[in-house]
Amino acid sequence: MDNFEYRNGRLHAEEVALSRIADEFGTPTYVYSRDALERAYLSYAQALEGRDALVCYAVKANSNLAVLNVLARLGAGFDIVSAGELERVLRAGGDPAKVVFSGVGKQPAEIRRALEAGILCFNIESDAELDRVNAVAGEMGVKAPVSFRVNPDVDAGTHPYISTGLKENKFGIAIETAVDVYRRAAALEHVEVVGMDCHIGSQLTEVSPFLDAIDRLLVLLDTLAAEGIRIHHLDLGGGLGVNYTDETPPTPGEYIAQVLQKLEGRDYKLIFEPGRSIAANAGVMLTRVEFLKQSGDKNFAIIDGAMNDLIRPSLYGAYQEIVPAELREEGETQAWDLVGPVCETGDFLGKDRQLNLQPGDLLAVCSAGAYGFVMASNYNTRPRPAEVMVDDNKVYLVRERETLNDLMRGEQLLPAQS
Ligand code: LLP
Repeated sequence: MDNFEYRNGRLHAEEVALSRIADEFGTPTYVYSRDALERAYLSYAQALEGRDALVCYAVKANSNLAVLNVLARLGAGFDIVSAGELERVLRAGGDPAKVVFSGVGKQPAEIRRALEAGILCFNIESDAELDRVNAVAGEMGVKAPVSFRVNPDVDAGTHPYISTGLKENKFGIAIETAVDVYRRAAALEHVEVVGMDCHIGSQLTEVSPFLDAIDRLLVLLDTLAAEGIRIHHLDLGGGLGVNYTDETPPTPGEYIAQVLQKLEGRDYKLIFEPGRSIAANAGVMLTRVEFLKQSGDKNFAIIDGAMNDLIRPSLYGAYQEIVPAELREEGETQAWDLVGPVCETGDFLGKDRQLNLQPGDLLAVCSAGAYGFVMASNYNTRPRPAEVMVDDNKVYLVRERETLNDLMRGEQLLPAQS
């Protein structure tokens, strides 16, 4: 986490001490580094320089408007999975002509909105969805640009919940049937076949599964070309992993270099949909220790952040580093389970962490910039955290902490006489 460093024992985001942010905005709070976001995006963009290519940031990883805006200003495209994400991209100043629309269950109204906005491409995941897109485009008297998400049946070697490129997953069109689907699409009146895409999973720490997937797609592309079905772009999805603890994933530069080598002599426009590798290590979640408690031979630190604020540890057993915002000389380092106030045994952010803790301590949960706030809920009627962005020595509130009124908006009592 390059932009988060200790200086004189105090953890900083860029030029700002995290303790200052906690004092000003309270806890739990998500803190993002603008520089970290920009550098991660640029590592993709620069590796692709000189090639017809587009980096479509996967909005689902972190959809805060300020995050999207920072990336839009650099010329990023966006990968969306709902009309809601499209609206966010538009409000953040993103260019609809650089938007790809993924996801298995696009609604007619979402397709319509995306066509009105003029997106680059629909990434289609089934036969039935192809018909739906064709029908909506027909009603509007336009042609929808489409790509098919092909499931290359490769094992991404990642957590089963985030592995998507195997036959048994719900995603994409089986590679064996893809030629038929492309043929059918080529004959439809209201779609224009422009691309092929795949996304084999998330948090991949090796390049080889991506290269295997490309090999399989190339065979398919050649078969299609022989039938006169020309594909303009190849979208390789997202999935590049990040360092949470001791993983050593390739950098975007290393990954892209190998992809380009594999695609030598092929002139497809290339699209990538990175989410985690742009946002994860650009953010931390700040949380404060409320109480320390012993039970049997377990030490529990009860913190004010919980599974509703950051669900990855509970949901996937994911490991995210947890570090003190201020280092302490005196006191004893012990193993702690860091647990939240939510009434579930699964409510923890870390287990068996060696820390030197006192009540009131401020902690930073690392690598929380992706799949953090976006997966937060209001379980236990807990307002979702504030989000702030640091830019050099300045701090901007980019999302207010929710209020209890926000949480109850739209709810109604039954009439008194009922
Ligand atoms: N494109 C498509 C079609 C996707 O489904 C995804 C992620 C991405 C791109 C971005 O993948 P990334 O570069 O972030 O790996 N909530 C889970 C991750 C779910 C990923 C879902 N799809 C987690 O917290 O680990």
